[in-house]
Amino acid sequence: MEKPIIAANWKSNKTVGESLEWLKKFSDLAKDAGLLKNKTVILCAPYTNLYPLKLEVAKLGIPILLGAQDVSPYAEGAYTGQISARMIKDIAEWVIVGHSERRKYFNEHDEDLARKVEQIKTAGLKVIYCVSDKGMPVPEGVDIVAYEPLWAIGTGKTDTPENAAETVQSIKAKTGISLALYGGSVNKGNVGGFLKTGSIDGVLIGGASLEADSFAGLISASV
Ligand code: PGA
Repeated sequence: MEKPIIAANWKSNKTVGESLEWLKKFSDLAKDAGLLKNKTVILCAPYTNLYPLKLEVAKLGIPILLGAQDVSPYAEGAYTGQISARMIKDIAEWVIVGHSERRKYFNEHDEDLARKVEQIKTAGLKVIYCVSDKGMPVPEGVDIVAYEPLWAIGTGKTDTPENAAETVQSIKAKTGISLALYGGSVNKGNVGGFLKTGSIDGVLIGGASLEADSFAGLISASV
């Protein structure tokens, strides 16, 4: 396998101050243990935290990439409250689209999601696109697919590595996308099982990314 991809999704958590505290602590742990040498780490933070994080990441010289958790389906313009892909391009490289929480609580449907992916690609950003089973459509242009069964998100229950591997293989074959993540209650104790399958290229982490030390522990177990 190439370098494992470890993507953190903080969801709707952390003030600017808390996010910078997390980064300082994580950077110290990661540097001491040489944790980031063979890993690709993407930190998907709330919009409000991305610019301060970008400045601090550069100052600390820590090799992590930043991502947003959503994007407007429209280009810039009269869309009050929306953050366009071009605005994100200034401060991050990745965007998560289609997370099940966006689908459930904000009624996002396949058509909206395809529009978001189009905006992201036009701006030159990369997409992590979430699906909860192998039958869900994936728009053109997606860089990484994340398979996250609904019942595994935030529940402490995970899919088996075998079933997750079979699911991502079938998504890869159907879409032609070469990179896939598993997400849903991944922690430092179970991450290795998913990565060892060979067909899962990385993991998408919610709860276990919120504390710097548990996230650092998870990265160190990601072999
Ligand atoms: P969890 O969340 O790790 O807390 O289960 C995963 C996700 O929602 O991406």
